[in-house]
Amino acid sequence: MKALEGVRILDFTHVQSGPTCTQLLAWFGADVIKVERPGVGDITRTQLRDIPDVDSLYFTMLNGNKRSMTLDTKSEGGKAILERLIKACDVLVENFAPGAIDRMGFPWEKIQELNPRMIYASVKGFGPGPYEDCKVYENVAQCTGGSASTTGFDDGPPLVTGSQIGDSGTGLHLGLGIVTALYHREKTGRGQRVLAAMQDGVLNLARVKLRDQQRLAHGPLKEYPQYPNGTFTDECPRAGNASGGGQPGWAVKTKGGGANDYIYVIIQPPGWAVYMKLCGREELIDDPEWATPEARLPKLDQCFALIEEWTKTKDKFEVMEILNERNVPCGPILSMKELAEEPSLRATGTVVEVDHPTRGKYLTVGQPIKLSDSPAEVGPSPLLGEHTDEILGDVLGLSEDEIEATWASGALGQKASAAAE
Ligand SMILES: CC(C)(COP(=O)(O)OP(=O)(O)OC[C@H]1O[C@@H](n2cnc3c(N)ncnc32)[C@H](O)[C@@H]1OP(=O)(O)O)[C@@H](O)C(=O)NCCC(=O)NCCS
Repeated sequence: MKALEGVRILDFTHVQSGPTCTQLLAWFGADVIKVERPGVGDITRTQLRDIPDVDSLYFTMLNGNKRSMTLDTKSEGGKAILERLIKACDVLVENFAPGAIDRMGFPWEKIQELNPRMIYASVKGFGPGPYEDCKVYENVAQCTGGSASTTGFDDGPPLVTGSQIGDSGTGLHLGLGIVTALYHREKTGRGQRVLAAMQDGVLNLARVKLRDQQRLAHGPLKEYPQYPNGTFTDECPRAGNASGGGQPGWAVKTKGGGANDYIYVIIQPPGWAVYMKLCGREELIDDPEWATPEARLPKLDQCFALIEEWTKTKDKFEVMEILNERNVPCGPILSMKELAEEPSLRATGTVVEVDHPTRGKYLTVGQPIKLSDSPAEVGPSPLLGEHTDEILGDVLGLSEDEIEATWASGALGQKASAAAE
């Protein structure tokens, strides 16, 4: 039995932040019913399409294991169906622009009245405050949550990261909120409102930078590359590739000279002797000018340059092997191509090949959280409205005649067979 089997989720999510959340819950066994606008569906179905007339990878990689139904929630018939779905589900998840669900005629008070056990979970760009009505996308959240101001090199502009910490990161936060509220409901019998704001989620992930902001009041940040030769202001600066933790680190070049022929090395105190032996510079192991972290701190750039002289003679995987044999942590810079081809990630289900009815085979990132008793099976994303009849039947108990009548009312859009005529 899957961990979330029996939990039914009414999924009004679109684009990325909300869908990542409900996909994780679907992989854990929840029945996720994705409600989409007739004829259109989630906008990402057609965004960044690589194959004509086929759901994009953007969509397929965020909506695995869900069921899809079409419903015009602004029509009278659609509202009636939505009321019944709210009564039949445990969780409603949405990430529309602020107020959209209210404008559909379903404010939280009404949802609670219809189903007091319902958990109503939302992603919004901002929490309550001056920006609460703003629409937000990934990079807006990275910029407003403190990530961009602390990412990049000191002499360059703020940078957004390749990881979708605003969207997928907030989806993860929301997922935790939902399972927490489900657990709470076990004890109280009541549902509750769950909000994950993207600005809050990014700031939570950038927590160490708020730490550093406060440390600045008590002197320079000695592990930052600005120390001791650069300058600090009263704002937490960008640290380039510095480690951010207690141990100095940097990305150094390896053999090959390609864009990703780099390895991230960390100089823990015991690692210094290892590096210097590998570099053929044993004389620096006990030299008081180099031997201690304090002595090395003002010349970390020289330390990494010395190490790079050695790393440039090996490829990144050789360096990884040699350093790990000596208990020294490091991380090769892996490209998406290398990750897609990595057999161990395939073996654990972190990278999965999925078969889709119109696309054929594609790769997706599978469930990154592993439960020993509830393994995830990663399936394809649904076609638009693929399960409309099935959901009306098995969730709402509508008869075939009632389903046909609902189609005829226009609440579900135009039936595929009718649309094709
Ligand atoms: C992502 C975002 C910027 C997209 O904005 P958008 O494309 O303009 O879409 P909206 O969220 O405004 O919603 C579109 C409209 O479709 C309507 N709609 C959606 N599904 C519908 C359905 N099944 N039937 C009828 N109408 C539907 C909504 O009610 C809304 O109408 P309204 O504006 O009249 O209230 C916005 O949704 C947002 O800020 N979301 C919160 C933050 C977030 O999650 N951002 C990250 C996305 S990855």
